[in-house]
Amino acid sequence: MAARPILRLGDPVLRQRSVEVTELDTPELHALIADMFATMEAADGAGLAAIQIGVPLRIMIFGFEVNARYPDVEPIPVTVLINPEFEVLDAAKIGGWEGCLSVPGMRGFVRRFSHIRYKGVDQFGNEIAREACEFHARVFQHEFDHLEGVLYPDLIDDPLQFGFHEELVASGIL
Ligand code: NI
Repeated sequence: MAARPILRLGDPVLRQRSVEVTELDTPELHALIADMFATMEAADGAGLAAIQIGVPLRIMIFGFEVNARYPDVEPIPVTVLINPEFEVLDAAKIGGWEGCLSVPGMRGFVRRFSHIRYKGVDQFGNEIAREACEFHARVFQHEFDHLEGVLYPDLIDDPLQFGFHEELVASGIL
């Protein structure tokens, strides 16, 4: 298990649509997921999609007890989600600040659905189905977008609400 380099915004690999995983519970899949966790933990991330380490499969991991990058948010169960789907339970969107390990040092204000239901399977084929609100719902939608080749800067409405984390904090915007 080893942390791998994270692709950054501008790398066209991040823009491809990831494909469904067809074989679960294989040594290769378990090794990939172990590397994804090592990569996410090394970077203090809240989530990671396989495409961020260059593997175009529909796999996301997310969750944490406490997160140094997002100290004020509720814990999210540590989750492996393969071939995920979701439905929107409340069409209202709420805005929130996001970062991404593929856009290091930056934050942007993005509107997301506040209440969703998602489902998928874990690496063993166990079904996972949950309702999620607020930051949990936000993290899922952010990772799901990676599987579609979408990164959060694409979704920013107001360019003034996008910038380097340090500068946004220094100027009181964040
Ligand atoms: Ni991201």
